[in-house]
Amino acid sequence: MTGIHGRRGPFTDGDTVQLTDPKGRMHTITLHEGGTFHSHKGKVEHDDLLGRPEGSVVRSNTGTAYVALRPLLIDYTLSMKRGATIVYPKDAAQVMVEADIFPGARVVEAGAGSGAMSNWLLRAVGEKGMVHSYERRADFAEIARKNVERFYGGPHPAWTLTVGDLVEELDETDVDRVFLDMLAPWECLDAVARALIPGGLLCCYVATTTQLSRVVEELREDERFYEPRSWETMLRTWHVEGLAVRPDHRMIGHTGFLVVARRLADGVEAPERRRRPAKGAYGQDYEASRAAAGGAAKGAPAGPAPAQAPAAPAAGEAAVQEAPAQETPGRDAAAGDAAAE
Ligand SMILES: C[S@@+](CC[C@H](N)C(=O)[O-])C[C@H]1O[C@@H](n2cnc3c(N)ncnc32)[C@H](O)[C@@H]1O
Repeated sequence: MTGIHGRRGPFTDGDTVQLTDPKGRMHTITLHEGGTFHSHKGKVEHDDLLGRPEGSVVRSNTGTAYVALRPLLIDYTLSMKRGATIVYPKDAAQVMVEADIFPGARVVEAGAGSGAMSNWLLRAVGEKGMVHSYERRADFAEIARKNVERFYGGPHPAWTLTVGDLVEELDETDVDRVFLDMLAPWECLDAVARALIPGGLLCCYVATTTQLSRVVEELREDERFYEPRSWETMLRTWHVEGLAVRPDHRMIGHTGFLVVARRLADGVEAPERRRRPAKGAYGQDYEASRAAAGGAAKGAPAGPAPAQAPAAPAAGEAAVQEAPAQETPGRDAAAGDAAAE
């Protein structure tokens, strides 16, 4: 059921169905003839749902009403079993657009983790595309496989899952897009650069500023990628009820940062950046690896990349804040960068 099949029409045996009670609590069940769903609000017979249209309301034997719907991928993602932390759906949505995941694309992903991103990628590339996922932990790979197969109702024809380290195992070439969600994506840059086609795109999802700094600087240093772009998204949901229309009191404050960079053609040299780094961005307090970013960066000691993510970005950021604001940035410059450059 990679396409429309299994997502439309009356409920049938084997369908995954989400039952939502009056308090909004969701229960995901798989329908079987003669099956029963039990909760502390009583039991619901699967036969009461089989053959009925999606959006039906069923009652338990104690009278509790449940709305029955096939889960959307976002519902499924948030309720499925997890091993590793998943890509949060708002970020997966960003990846689809900003990393330009298109039908028929050849995509490499690591680590597969719980398979959340694998599901989104597979949906976007479709049956004629390819998603090669790598996961170095066998136990997580198993969870990812189950989560993908459960969502698509069996093995997806466009998916392969390799248990192993991307750096050692990646042998695909002519890859359009690479998505890395892991602790140390910079360790994979050489393997990724070899796999990507010229113009291909690498997208990294990292949780901390130290990771963000390191992956961006190492992308610059690598010189096979064009200037990376970084951002995060914040999602604020709203309470809308009569005259009480306001942002919800709670929100998810932080999930992760996204970085994208395009693969340059072999043998070319990236043009020097027009906007020079802020004075002090790569100054004496900056200890991490750094690209020959021109201008202020050129006098700074290059030094080897530290084993740990750098502590220095805080100093870099301080310098950034002191730098005078320049003209309005284009799409390639997030607000922070505008001050930096
Ligand atoms: C945060 S999880 C990924 C979650 C996944 N994107 C999802 O949405 O379900 C990071 C995973 O990357 C795996 N990992 C880290 N480095 C790796 C590498 N070099 N090759 C393959 N897997 C790696 C880890 O074992 C971990 O399961």
